[in-house]
Amino acid sequence: MSRRRFLASTAAASMSTLAIGAAPPKPAGHHRPMAISSGNGLRAVEKAIELVRKGHDPLDAAIEGVAIVEADPKDHSVGLGGLPNEDGVVELDAAVMHGPTHGGGSVASIRNIMHPAAVARVVMQRSRHCLLVGPGALRFARAHGFPEVNLLTDEARQIWLHWKETRDPKDDWLPPPEENVAAFIREALEPRVTGTIHCSVLDTHGDLGCTTTTSGLSWKIPGRVGDSPILGAGLFLDNEVGSAGSTGVGELNLLNLSSALIVEQMRRGLHPKDAIMDVCKTIATRCARDPRRRRKDGRVAGNVSFYALSKDGKFAGGSIYPGGRMAVHDGDHARVIPCDPLFDR
Ligand code: GLY
Repeated sequence: MSRRRFLASTAAASMSTLAIGAAPPKPAGHHRPMAISSGNGLRAVEKAIELVRKGHDPLDAAIEGVAIVEADPKDHSVGLGGLPNEDGVVELDAAVMHGPTHGGGSVASIRNIMHPAAVARVVMQRSRHCLLVGPGALRFARAHGFPEVNLLTDEARQIWLHWKETRDPKDDWLPPPEENVAAFIREALEPRVTGTIHCSVLDTHGDLGCTTTTSGLSWKIPGRVGDSPILGAGLFLDNEVGSAGSTGVGELNLLNLSSALIVEQMRRGLHPKDAIMDVCKTIATRCARDPRRRRKDGRVAGNVSFYALSKDGKFAGGSIYPGGRMAVHDGDHARVIPCDPLFDR
């Protein structure tokens, strides 16, 4: 199949999948809408604002926004084209939270589904549970009409194969000569991918919705679940306060329920930037107690970035170390800006 036909059929499959569980639009309100995302989410915030302006639910808008990245075979951090686990199998994690109902749903280690955030919405709407994993999550998705697709693109397979062939000089896998290794493989292997996309949306009625979706840590042990599908860790919201989400090394957030902590700090009156910095300090202090999570200089190993949006439209992005970026749409225009780091290196 030509690339154009492949992308056209992917787009058609995406659109019908995204209709599952989406609410019809209602008349738009007068509140100024806002959308924030991780640095890979410029298209997501643009789409989300377009939808909430037409009266769509803020969670539906966030899900459609991140779906653009989930369906992009060139993005190796999420959905189609995401980097696989150590066995070469793509396993996805995603969660959603809905402000007006304080509903939440998630799926973890789900295979063969391009839009796990949309499945998480159906877990929230059509089950009494919050989290489904592995084969159970896939059966649930199939029952609700989500089509199965092969998520391992040829590009992602080649990147995985090179990792497999080079990781242990004592095993029997042999890499090709260095000069035969394509540039995209070299670029993708350094550093290890922990990419994810988060999106928080404030709609024209002042209501919040958010989602976080990921293919998780590249080359993970099969079955490893990160922070993204864990409500409170990879995302959290309170419709009276604000919304927060994260990307980066998920274990640091699992050990601190960081997104819930950020929302709690905003509840106490902190600006999103101060709430994020406070939680970055908490992570840096607590996690550096474990020698396995400590760098040689004594600081915590691994980075996480946070994105927070308050009910009254204040927003911030922050991370433990430099390098994080966030996308923001303030209702007028969308842009990507750096996250403020806690430490300078
Ligand atoms: N933050 C994404 C992950 O660790 O899986």
